[in-house]
Amino acid sequence: MVTRREANAGLVSAAMVAGTSGLGAQAAKVRSLPPPRATGGKPLIDALKLRRSIREYEARPLPLQTLSDLLWAAFGVNRPSGDRTAPYWRHVMVIDVYAALADGVWLYDPKEHRLEQRLDADIRGQTGTQDFVATAPLNLVYVAHGERMLDISPEERRLYASVDAGFIGQNVYLFCASEGLATVFRGSVDTRKLAPQCSSARGNS
Ligand SMILES: Cc1cc2nc3c(=O)[nH]c(=O)nc-3n(C[C@H](O)[C@H](O)[C@H](O)COP(=O)(O)O)c2cc1C
Repeated sequence: MVTRREANAGLVSAAMVAGTSGLGAQAAKVRSLPPPRATGGKPLIDALKLRRSIREYEARPLPLQTLSDLLWAAFGVNRPSGDRTAPYWRHVMVIDVYAALADGVWLYDPKEHRLEQRLDADIRGQTGTQDFVATAPLNLVYVAHGERMLDISPEERRLYASVDAGFIGQNVYLFCASEGLATVFRGSVDTRKLAPQCSSARGNS
């Protein structure tokens, strides 16, 4: 049974990010995350039985340890090679995961397992078209960098970037099922409004 309803995962499916972030890379604040828990959680079969979409959320912030565990489960580094908890297209990191929190928009850095602030405004309400997104304590935004996908057509970029995002989304679903958190994967996003808010200082496309 879901007892806590806190996380909310959003999707910018293969959105091509353009524009600049509100904070430059040098001004960016960094938030350290505690190491992800190495044990615990429900058995996979139990998590699969519990996996579902939930659209009601409590407003209270996620504990930092839970945020750390969630981001690691989503797309963290799980091997010395630097590879991730989710598979990804042709060994190219196409998806960046952003956390839209009450205190701003943060880029997840999986290698350092930390957050880097990209915007110091609360834009949760812009991460989707449904009312609950504005008060859900966390909205994850999956930003696809098409410019990192060389030698394929725009259609293929969208396809593979969407698949990459889907794997991450399922990791989030299973983590939330295991932890008694609410989540829903969302495609109903006004990407033209949201994309400029989530542009990484590393580049745009
Ligand atoms: C690509 C994709 C986009 C989705 N977009 C939304 C959305 O914008 N809003 C929403 O409330 N649910 C969205 N969902 C969740 C589905 O509605 C949900 O998974 C489906 O109804 C099955 O319910 P379940 O997840 O509880 O099994 C989306 C799911 C997928 C896979």
